Amino acid sequence: MARTIAITGKGGVGKTTIASLIIGYLRANTPGPILAVDADPDCNLATVLGITVEATIGDLREDILRTIKDFPAGMSKENYVEAGLHEIIAETHKVDLITMGRGEGPGCYCFINNLLRKFADDLLPSYQWMVMDNEAGMEHLSRRTTSYVDHLIVVINENPLSIDCAERIARLLDDLDGNVRKKYFLLNAVREDRTSVVMDKMVGLGLEYLGALARDDAIEEAVFCGESIYGLAETTAAKAIDRIMRKIGVG
Ligand SMILES: Nc1ncnc2c1ncn2[C@@H]1O[C@H](COP(=O)(O)OP(=O)(O)OP(=O)(O)O)[C@@H](O)[C@H]1O
Ligand SMILES: [Mg+2]
Repeated sequence: MARTIAITGKGGVGKTTIASLIIGYLRANTPGPILAVDADPDCNLATVLGITVEATIGDLREDILRTIKDFPAGMSKENYVEAGLHEIIAETHKVDLITMGRGEGPGCYCFINNLLRKFADDLLPSYQWMVMDNEAGMEHLSRRTTSYVDHLIVVINENPLSIDCAERIARLLDDLDGNVRKKYFLLNAVREDRTSVVMDKMVGLGLEYLGALARDDAIEEAVFCGESIYGLAETTAAKAIDRIMRKIGVG
């Protein structure tokens, strides 16, 4: 079964960047394959990874709902959903990407969602890792789209609101019935002289300190030039990710 890593935290703290660097690390240092899941309706992960996405789970859901009445003869709904799901997976060297896309419009999606969940469960054993980039906040936790997670990483930056958000996430995790194995926090782009203040605020939240990523010019440059994050193996951020992944028990 794939080991799962989910990234969460307040808007703009660096979730997609960190998810991409982790995927880049796993791609370079493990046999893979890796399933990357973009669970943010804004769909940024593909761009940062340099992967082209043709369609999302949201598109497939809408498509099925539209065509459910006149399915091709001889094709069951199950087959249709499965075929659609395989088309949605963007396959690249060692890394496949699924993009969740927009949420549901009006209509009954229970049947489709149950089928999608079943196929996702069937898919997971084919991967060594699943890395999930989530939308900001806690919606994904309360909706339980993040069902079983081995490593949940809450990203914090210098903004005190990111710490408030982490606190709410930690509380919510306590209320959910233990489907997250390890809970961490990770500092992103926190200035060294501010680190101790931030660390003090994190005491007692029940999140383990995973590490710190410095502000990295190479990330800004790659983003500005529209380049994928895979090329960043030798930068300070990528080196910090190496240490972080070893702490998680990879490499
Ligand atoms: N360590 C870093 N060094 C330099 N730039 C960074 C770093 N971390 C994040 N950034 C930049 O900050 C911006 C926000 O990062 P990112 O998109 O990863 O945040 P996010 O938490 O995924 O945001 P959202 O909540 O909107 O999904 C991006 O332009 C990214 O390139
Ligand atoms: Mg993001």
